[in-house]
Formats: sequence, structure tokens, C-alpha cells
Amino acid sequence: MGRLAGKVAIVSGGATGCGAAAVRLFAAEGAAVGIIDRNVQAGSALAIELARAGYRVVFATADVSKKAEVDQAVATVKSQLGPVNVLFNHAGTIVIKPFLETEEEDWDFLFDVNVKSMYLMTRAVLPMMLAAGKGSIVCTSSISAVYGTPNEVLYDATKGACHMFARAIAVEFRDRGIRCNAVCPGFIETPHGLREVAELTALGVDVSEAAIKAAQGRFGQPEDIARAALYLASDDSDFVNGTQLFVDNGFSAA
Ligand SMILES: NC(=O)c1ccc[n+]([C@@H]2O[C@H](COP(=O)([O-])OP(=O)(O)OC[C@H]3O[C@@H](n4cnc5c(N)ncnc54)[C@H](O)[C@@H]3O)[C@@H](O)[C@H]2O)c1
Repeated sequence: MGRLAGKVAIVSGGATGCGAAAVRLFAAEGAAVGIIDRNVQAGSALAIELARAGYRVVFATADVSKKAEVDQAVATVKSQLGPVNVLFNHAGTIVIKPFLETEEEDWDFLFDVNVKSMYLMTRAVLPMMLAAGKGSIVCTSSISAVYGTPNEVLYDATKGACHMFARAIAVEFRDRGIRCNAVCPGFIETPHGLREVAELTALGVDVSEAAIKAAQGRFGQPEDIARAALYLASDDSDFVNGTQLFVDNGFSAA
């Protein structure tokens, strides 16, 4: 039996990077998986590939910062796979700029994509979990929730909010069978992580291979995050609620 046998999971941001690695792992561990992402090409290609391999995986498109699109996509997944009991809130992005060059639009955009999305997705999925009396929500935070990086003030602030969102959901719903935890990646080799390294380097921040090696031993891989998300999503973490799991090989311990 897989560690997610019988579960129905949604992975937001599941088209590429850590989200896609989680989709593959969750499916291999027995879950039916709904991918919700704005990247239609990569998301539907992954769903088709896994469905052809015999897994129950569907794709539904949404900009996760838009309520109507989220509600529609969640309803599509529910109608095809059944009530959802695992939610991996992973979709997110980054704006890297010197603070004094940021504009109000940057703030609104990043909070909409990184934070409001968690509210909208959780608001749409949680009633199904409450009806079943059980559910696990995993929210992607970051080392950036507690470690500041130059030119990432807005991003760091969004990740601090993700941290607290997960804790507060856990406190409000613990007694109704809901767990909500945050996973906090270090630097991970995904489209997001590679863009972050390139843009920080262009602004003179040392995120060289040597600097990343010194801070966390190596560039993390998407599967490192997927395995941590699997633990938090599965019943293996039944008594783990409202916590933050740093997946950074000691970056945040130094
Ligand atoms: N890669 C890292 O180093 C790192 C470190 C810490 C945290 N994170 C977090 O991981 C997430 C980024 O994911 P990744 O590293 O797997 O890279 P990624 O860029 O491959 O994945 C992000 C996914 O989210 C989707 N997405 C972005 N905005 C969306 C929107 N508005 N609506 C729907 N889908 C949207 C993208 O299409 C993509 O599939 C973010 O939440 C980021 O804060 C990444």
C-alpha cells in the first residue's frame, strides 16, 4: 500500500519544479492527484503522461490568485477525482528588485500569487476536508520567511505570511481533524530557483555555487521538497500540526 493510498490530492503549482516532483511522488504513493497551475502546456503534459502510465491524475488550469478560477479548478478536480483530502499549496513566484525600485503593483502581484492564493485554495478545499473529518494541508513557505536576502523584501514578506497562515489554520481547525504545516525549502534547482540565482547574481549578491555549497552543501533538488511534502501530507505525520519543516540541509541551523 502506498503512503497516500485512498487520498485525493491537489497540488497547486504542480506543472513544474517541486510541485511536479510532488505530483509524481504523490501519484506513485497511491493518491489521485489534481494539478492546478497556470502553465497549461506543462501541467496538461504531466497529467497525460501520468494518466497513460496508469495513475489517476488530472489537470485544471487556474491563476491561483483569482477566486473564480480557483473555485472552477477545484470543482473540476472534485468532479473527476472526488472530495479532496490533501492540499499542497505550492504555487508561487518571486520579484527581485532593490527595495526602492519596487512599486505598489509588485507588492500586490506578489501577495496575490504567494499569499492570497493560499487563502483562496484553502477556502475552496477545506469544506470538503471538514465534511470528511480529516485533511492535510501543506503550504510552501521558504527559508526566506526567516532569513532576509537583499532585493527580496517583498518576497520575504510574502513567505513570512505563508508561515503564519499555516500555523493559524492549524490552530483554528485542529479539533476538526485538519492538519496544516509549512514546508520551507532552501535553494532548490527549479525554474524559480535558477531565476532567483541569476537575478540575485546580476544585482551583485553572492549566490555562486560555492556560496550555496557553503550554506547548504549542494543545490537542493525538487524531489527533496516532494519527499518532505509527502511526509506532511501523509498519515505518517499524524501528530505534526502547525509546524515548519525546513528542507535546507542546515542552511537555517547555522
Ligand atoms: N526553488 C527554490 O529555491 C525555492 C525556495 C524556497 C521556496 N520556493 C517556493 O517554491 C515555489 C516555486 O516553485 P518551484 O521552486 O517548484 O519552481 P517553479 O517555478 O518550477 O514552480 C512554480 C509553479 O507555480 C506555478 N505558478 C506560479 N504562479 C502561478 C499562478 N498565479 N497561478 C497558477 N500557477 C502559478 C508555475 O506555473 C509553476 O508551475 C514558490 O512558492 C516558492 O516561493 C522555491
